[in-house]
Amino acid sequence: MGRTIGHPLHHNDGMTIRVGLIGAGNIGTSHARDLAFAVSGAAVSAVFDADAERAHDLASEVGAIPFARADDLIGSPDVDAVLIASPDDAHAEQALACLAAGKPTLCEKPLAPEESDALRVVEAEVAGGRRLIMMGFMRRFDPGYSSLKAELGASGIGEPLIVNNIHRNMSAPYGLASERTLTNMVIHEFDINRWLLDEEYASVQVLTGRSGPYTPDGERDPLLVILQTTSGVLVEIEAFVNARYGYEVICRVTGSEGSAVMGDGSYVTRSARGHRGQAVPELWLGRFADAYRLQLQSWIDQLSGRGRPAGASAWDGYVATIVANRAIQALRSGVRIGVDLPERPPLYT
Ligand SMILES: NC(=O)c1ccc[n+]([C@@H]2O[C@H](COP(=O)([O-])OP(=O)(O)OC[C@H]3O[C@@H](n4cnc5c(N)ncnc54)[C@H](O)[C@@H]3O)[C@@H](O)[C@H]2O)c1
Repeated sequence: MGRTIGHPLHHNDGMTIRVGLIGAGNIGTSHARDLAFAVSGAAVSAVFDADAERAHDLASEVGAIPFARADDLIGSPDVDAVLIASPDDAHAEQALACLAAGKPTLCEKPLAPEESDALRVVEAEVAGGRRLIMMGFMRRFDPGYSSLKAELGASGIGEPLIVNNIHRNMSAPYGLASERTLTNMVIHEFDINRWLLDEEYASVQVLTGRSGPYTPDGERDPLLVILQTTSGVLVEIEAFVNARYGYEVICRVTGSEGSAVMGDGSYVTRSARGHRGQAVPELWLGRFADAYRLQLQSWIDQLSGRGRPAGASAWDGYVATIVANRAIQALRSGVRIGVDLPERPPLYT
């Protein structure tokens, strides 16, 4: 179904940012509901999905118009900004189309699984001379990670020396294979540890061990990723996509003066029937609900000229993809791989 010409649901009132959504799956639906019902100054004006019925259903729910083609949505005068929530392999081409149309874009992670595709997006943005892309690395907006970052430095736990990260899913999302685990899932840790420590990685190594009964033949799960930053901080990431018990993310930073850990701090402890404990969320949507909403509010505020620049850039997306690709080399070869980054263009300084 195409756009209904002459009957836009959302007029340009100059105060509302009208977002066009590409990809109406798990996260696209969550983002659309947040934008329509929880974020101020925003509306969802258009939805495209490769599955026309999905686009139609979500569009009806949030008061948007379903589009039959991504390019038409991106070019629509009723779309001020675009949110890309399609599968990983579609992000780069869609981001390039948004840049060509001059539309601000929030792109879900990863910017691209392939380094060369991520580079094309960065080069196009640099050529345009304007930062239009924000990456959906929403952990940068998570209250837990923000509190943890505040602990780093002289007044908290001193100089960080080692970071332990745990990232577990109940079962492999999208049937993730081991290498895709690095570009799709562990990419969150590649970004957030770099943000927490405010420095780049120098090397990466990936260890595999015994896999559990739910791991498909030929795949390796869990993975233990060990990075070293340029100043020598050790960053350890344990990724386990078939953990069965729930979704869990933990980050512990140990420094020269103490240690700080971020886990599931926002969940209550229930005591009943002889047991004391907490529910474990099944999905990222439960654990990071606040982060997703805060990220969207920040994006909309920035586009409305009300908020300070915040969030990850296309450059951050490119760096995370480079690190993930080096990690794939490390997984394949079993040896430690150096991480050499290209020079950061002035647009991103
Ligand atoms: N930031 C986060 O924490 C987070 C969480 C979940 C997903 N994601 C990312 O969001 C993206 C979508 O994940 P999901 O869990 O919603 O997946 P999903 O499979 O639930 O949804 C993907 C949707 O995209 C549609 N689609 C397929 N090809 C398309 C195309 N070329 N253009 C437009 N739509 C297309 C599918 O029909 C489906 O509705 C992935 O890239 C994933 O990495 C990020």
